[in-house]
Amino acid sequence: MSEESRKIPEHVAIIMDGNGRWAQARSKTRVAGHKSGVETVRSSVSSARKLGVKALTLFAFSSENWQRPESEVSVLMELFMFVLTREVKRLHKNGIRFQIIGDVSRFSDKLQKKIKESEELTKHNQEMVLSIAANYGGRWDIANATKQIATKVLNKDITPDDITESLLNEHITLSDLPELDLLIRTGGDYRISNFLLWQAAYAEFYFTEVLWPDFTSDEFEQAINTFDQRERRFGLTGEQVKK
Ligand code: IPE
Ligand code: IPE
Ligand code: MG
Repeated sequence: MSEESRKIPEHVAIIMDGNGRWAQARSKTRVAGHKSGVETVRSSVSSARKLGVKALTLFAFSSENWQRPESEVSVLMELFMFVLTREVKRLHKNGIRFQIIGDVSRFSDKLQKKIKESEELTKHNQEMVLSIAANYGGRWDIANATKQIATKVLNKDITPDDITESLLNEHITLSDLPELDLLIRTGGDYRISNFLLWQAAYAEFYFTEVLWPDFTSDEFEQAINTFDQRERRFGLTGEQVKK
């Protein structure tokens, strides 16, 4: 298939799963798995940009992940800080806009400050948007949007009749980006784990057994090629969409 005719998803999201099992299989600590996973984040960002993906959204830490052993959580936070410090300049150089989605209020002041600086530095970049979901949950996202809308109703800025799908959508994260086209999950499980519940309404799903640290550019490319072969019908018949 020629590169030109291949349909590239505008917005790709990834549930980066399997770091722990990758490490376990090598008799390493789970932390070593997460460190190795960081390298895969870098290669995926670069692959996405090369392929012409407009938005890449990565699930790094879920609202439920706080319940992991404290030692693992604190290393993940340190790793997060380290990566932000080391990588954001490179993202900026490559024209990538960076943002965090999720409830950042639970992060340390230092980390929150770093996040703000990184978002500020890269906010005018146009090549691609990289969103990292951290302390993110799909249910949190919807509840948060609802809270904002309720406040508007209370302030009489809108009435309950103004509440439509499109209004709710405007208050949900990522609504300024192209619709989610492709959702990838590595690590062999077939679930959404409270990721982009609202945004994934018509996304194509791609599940692979490959563990996140082993998800190479070739694996990424394979997911993109699969997307090209999917027929997206959005509720219509096959005949209608072929027209
Ligand atoms: C995903 O890898 C990374 C995070 C959730 C932070 P896991 O740590 O969940 O790896 P497994 O699923 O235990 O192998
Ligand atoms: C989903 O992975 C969250 C991230 C990849 C950050 P989990 O490993 O937390 O998901 P479950 O627990 O297997 O559903
Ligand atoms: Mg996991």
